[in-house]
Amino acid sequence: MKKVKIVGGAPLEGKVEIAGAKNAALPCLAAALLTDEPITLHNIPQVTDVSTTLKLLGHLGATATFSSPRTIEVSLPKIKSYIAPYEMVKTMRASVLVLGPLLSRHGYALVSLPGGCAIGARPIDLHLEGLSKLGARIELKHGYVEASCRRLKGAEIYMDTVTVTGTENLLMASIRAEGDTVLKNCALEPEVTDLANLLVKMGAQIEGIGTSILKVRGVDRLHSAAHTIIPDRIEAGTYIMAGALSGRELEIEGCNPQHLVALTDKLLQAGANLRVEGDSIWVRGGNKLNPVDVKTSPYPGFPTDMQAQFMTLMTQAEGVSIITETIFENRFLHVAELDRMGARIKIDNHSAVIMGGTRLSGARVMATDLRASASLILGGLVASGETVVERVYHLDRGYERIEEKLKKVGAKIERIDDD
Ligand code: EPZ
Repeated sequence: MKKVKIVGGAPLEGKVEIAGAKNAALPCLAAALLTDEPITLHNIPQVTDVSTTLKLLGHLGATATFSSPRTIEVSLPKIKSYIAPYEMVKTMRASVLVLGPLLSRHGYALVSLPGGCAIGARPIDLHLEGLSKLGARIELKHGYVEASCRRLKGAEIYMDTVTVTGTENLLMASIRAEGDTVLKNCALEPEVTDLANLLVKMGAQIEGIGTSILKVRGVDRLHSAAHTIIPDRIEAGTYIMAGALSGRELEIEGCNPQHLVALTDKLLQAGANLRVEGDSIWVRGGNKLNPVDVKTSPYPGFPTDMQAQFMTLMTQAEGVSIITETIFENRFLHVAELDRMGARIKIDNHSAVIMGGTRLSGARVMATDLRASASLILGGLVASGETVVERVYHLDRGYERIEEKLKKVGAKIERIDDD
C-alpha cells in the first residue's frame, strides 16, 4: 500500500496550481447520461474518483475520450446496462448520482445502496423521497434501489436537510420530467451551480440557479454541450492552510476566491497574512495565529470538507479553539491521529476543543477519509521529524498528486511503497 513520507519544517514558497473541482466533475459526468449526444468537459481533475466514475459510465455503455489530460468527451448514444453494481458503488458513494439521470432518460435504474463510510451513515432517503414524488416506483431489495417509471412527472419537492448530491440527483431527474418541478431548500454549493450551468447549456430550462429554490420546466431531450469545470475550492483551501502553516509566500493560482470567503474570513480572523488578486490567493506564513472557533454548515458557511485541515492549523494557534461539526456524525477521525503527533484535542460530542501552541512531532499515522488524510499531511509539514501517512489512496480520491504539488514549493515529501 502506498504511503506519503514528510520531513517537517521546510518553508513553502512558490505557486500551486489548482485543479478542477472533483465534486463538480462527478455530477457533470453523470449528466452525460441525460443525452445521446457527446458532452465535452474541460478542467477535469486527475483524481481517482473521476476514474471510478468513468468506469461506472463505461459499464452503463458510455465511451469517454480524453483529448488532453484535462479535457474529456463522454457520449452515451445507447444504454448498455441500467445497473450500478455494488462493487463499483461501494468504492465511491457519489455513484448514486447516476440514479436520477438513468431514471429520467430510461425509466429504470438498479443502483446499489452506497452504504455508509468513515464519516457517517450517508443515507439517501431524501434522494429517494424526491424521486418517488416525481412518480418513480422505488423498491429497496438485496442492498439495491430499484427505481422505475414510465415517465417522471414534475412535482414540488422540499428537502428537509440540505443535501448536495440529493439536490443534484433530483435536479437531473426533473430535467426531462413532464411539466414543471420546484425543488426547495436546495444546496447552494458552487458545484451544484456548476452542474445547473452545464444542464442549461445542454438545453435544460432551470430558473433560480444559485438560490435555494430551483424551478425546472421539463424538456423532451437534451443536446451536446461543452463546459469548463469550476476550480476545486477544497483543494485551494487545503493549500492556503499549508501556506499559513509553513509558507514563506505561497501563491494559490487558478482558484475562485469568491468560493472561499468562509475560509479566508476565518483565516484573517486568525491573523493569517492573505492577499487576493484575480484568481490567485497569496498566503504568507510565519504569523502568530490566534485561536478561532468554527462551526461547519452548508454553503456559504464554513465547509465541512475543510474542517479537518483547519483543525491542524488551530493546533498551532496561541490559545484554545472549538470546532463544531454539524454536517456529519463522525467526522473527527483525524483527531486521534493528530493527537498521536502531539496535538491536544478533546472531543465533546459534535465539538472538538483544540489546545493551541502544541509542537507536533512526526509519527506514523493512518488516513481514514479524504479530508482527514489532508489534515495529516498538513500536520506532517509542520511537525518536527518524519511523518508517514498510510492509506494514501484516500488522498488520491480528491487531490491531484499532492506530494508533487507540495514538493514543487519546497516541502520535503515523497510517496513511498510499503516498507
Ligand atoms: C457532498 O456529499 C460532497 N460529495 C461531500 O464531499 C461533502 O462533504 C458533502 O456534500 C457536504 O458538503 C460530493 O459532492 C460528491 P449531503 P453528500 O447529502 O451529497 C444528510 C469530499 O470530501 N442526508 O450534502 O453525500 C447526510 O447524512 C466529500 O469531497 C440525509 O440525511 O452530502 C449529511 O448529514 C465528503 N439524507 C447531510 O445530509 C439524504 O438523502 C449532508 O449530506 C442525503 C443527505
